[in-house]
Formats: sequence, structure tokens, C-alpha cells
Amino acid sequence: MDATIEVRGLRKRYGPTVALDGMTFTAGPGRVTGFVGPNGAGKSTTLRVLLGLDRPDAGTALVGGRRYATLDRPLTGVGALLDAGALHPGRSGRDHLLWMARSQRIAAGRVDELLDEVGLHDQARRRAGGYSLGMRVRLGVAAALLGDPPILLLDEPFNGLDPAGFVWMRELLRGRAESGRTVLVSSHLMGELQDLAGQVIVVAGGRVVADVATRDLRDRYGSLESAYLELVR
Ligand SMILES: Nc1ncnc2c1ncn2[C@@H]1O[C@H](COP(=O)(O)OP(=O)(O)O)[C@@H](O)[C@H]1O
Ligand SMILES: [Mg+2]
Repeated sequence: MDATIEVRGLRKRYGPTVALDGMTFTAGPGRVTGFVGPNGAGKSTTLRVLLGLDRPDAGTALVGGRRYATLDRPLTGVGALLDAGALHPGRSGRDHLLWMARSQRIAAGRVDELLDEVGLHDQARRRAGGYSLGMRVRLGVAAALLGDPPILLLDEPFNGLDPAGFVWMRELLRGRAESGRTVLVSSHLMGELQDLAGQVIVVAGGRVVADVATRDLRDRYGSLESAYLELVR
């Protein structure tokens, strides 16, 4: 599967609220793409539309040239972490993953491999309802990686992580990008993205205000944070 994310002219209103107002960008393989903008800029809505969880009023959102809903085994095409709280609270982390794996013919052995990889081995048999936010994020990442997809969509994945979790997340995202995958990450952490992201898409008011190589923003404004503050002013 081709690993390009292509968002074209997305429009979406919720009653009187304009969430997306012509959102357009592409994100490609081999680098981390940062997706940044103020609260309410339309980042999460864009990610939901990409995953077929929300319907745009206009425009298209494609993963590997197709709509997500048409993918045969979606976990092997796109891994996503949108809402770390979206778990059955009574089910263990391991059962949560086993259930997802089974639904898409992914071997059960992969679940234990991932529980190790995300550092949840010791918590895997506890009910997920008792997990801290950081543990839920780790479980969500394991779910996103189950099908070893060429595309990862992560909505504020650093939220709730402990310091070791930050290091782990950074290495994970970098590793996925370096192995030729597409990684789109929304975040408010400009310091993290400055070192991690090759490209940054800055959005405000439901549309893109800048789509630039991080290096160019840093050269021009001194830091990604300064660039951001200038661009969304
Ligand atoms: N389900 C919803 N119902 C009503 N308004 C929504 C809904 N989802 C998002 N919005 C509104 O759409 C706008 C964009 O939200 P969102 O995509 O969550 O922004 P971001 O993730 O960039 O903070 C906001 O004004 C938000 O309040
Ligand atoms: Mg959001």
C-alpha cells in the first residue's frame, strides 16, 4: 500500500461552528509530519474524517489513495490513536488487543510482542479501566501498531506520558518514519516537534496556514515555537 495521506478541501460544520474550512495537505513517508494549531483549529476533526469516523460536508480524505472505509484490513493499512480513553473499562489491556487482532486475522502472538514493546507487559492482565492516562496511551499505541501499518495517525500522543514515555514515544515515531512509514502527529509540544518532525503543518480556523519543512521554519524564526506564535497570530 502507498503510504500517502491526502486531504483535499475538507469542509465540516457542527451546527453554527465551522470546524473545517478547506483543510488541504498531504503527508508522505519517511518523516514525521507535525500537525499543529490552536485548540479548536480542526486537527482532531481532520483525523476523524481520515478514519471515516466523521463525514465531511465537502472534500476528500484519502489514505494510500483510498478512503479508509474501503480498506480490507484497516489495521494493516492505518494505525491510529485518537482518544486514549476509548476502551472497554472492564476488559484487560491484553484482551482489548486480542479482540482487535482477531477481528483482522492478526496472530495472537503479535499482541504479547507489542505489550512488551510499549512497556505494558506487567499491566497487561489488569482491567484497562484502572489504567492511568499514560498507560492508556501505551495501549492505544500498541493497538495502532498491531497490523504494522505504513501509516500512523496520532492525536496528541505525548499527553499523559511520564518522562521515560516521552523518550519512548520520540524514538518510536522517529523509528517508524526512518523505516519509510508515514507518521502524522498532532501536538502542542513545539520543543518536541522541532527535533522530531521533518515537516510541520500549521492550521488555524479549519485550514492550513503554513506547510513547511521544520528546518526552514527554524532558520527563519529561530525556533518552531516562535514560528508557530507568529503564524497563528
Ligand atoms: N462533535 C462535535 N460537535 C460539535 N462541535 C464539534 C465537534 N467536534 C468538534 N467540534 C468543534 O469543531 C472545532 C474543531 O475542533 P477539533 O477538530 O477538535 O480541534 P482541535 O483538535 O484542533 O483542537 C471546534 O470548534 C470544536 O468545538
Ligand atoms: Mg484535538
